[in-house]
Amino acid sequence: MKLIIANWKMYLGVKDSVRLAKNIVAGKNQVIVCPSFVAIPEVKKALGKGVKLGAQNVSWQESGALTGEVSAGMLVELGCRYVIVGHSERRRFLAESDFVVREKLKAVLAKKIIPILCVSDLSELKILNQLVINDLIVAYEPVWAIGTGKTPTMEEIADMHKKIRARAGKSIKKLLVIYGGSVEEKNLKNILALPEVDGVLIGGASTTLSSLKKILQ
Ligand code: PGA
Repeated sequence: MKLIIANWKMYLGVKDSVRLAKNIVAGKNQVIVCPSFVAIPEVKKALGKGVKLGAQNVSWQESGALTGEVSAGMLVELGCRYVIVGHSERRRFLAESDFVVREKLKAVLAKKIIPILCVSDLSELKILNQLVINDLIVAYEPVWAIGTGKTPTMEEIADMHKKIRARAGKSIKKLLVIYGGSVEEKNLKNILALPEVDGVLIGGASTTLSSLKKILQ
């Protein structure tokens, strides 16, 4: 069984998210859906049995005067068991630093949510130093592959997954390493067939019903 995470980014509003959520059948793989914050409560109602719910972002603080932020505790209230942390779009467009990503990880772990930590190279794993983590999903997402239609070769993907596991695995009880960046129906099978790869994080191709259905088949 592999893990398929759908990251709907800021593509879908409430109505479209619910429409997609209703059509998700987990099948032989485990599926986690990460809608926008505003759609989370309705998507939760619409999701079928066995499909898990995640968020795309979280605040580094538990509560406080932080206009527009959403805390890990609030995500727990909404029924989210997972959250994406350190996505490259946030690092790039919202200037999220390694320090902030690490603080977010701590906030998430304190609430027993499982982080989906996005890294585009091995050096970004240093934020894990000295953190005690039971459950972690690391998504290897080379920045140049996100939304571009380009992907590394299968050898490169396998090699990076091995290196991530070797580097991060020591201190983490349950680690899953997944690939993200231009995963589509046409390359999904080959990527998931790699023994080093525990699953995929899919953005664009998970946001339309026709391609999502093919991905989940
Ligand atoms: P993409 O995005 O599948 O659209 O390349 C992946 C991601 O950003 O998580």
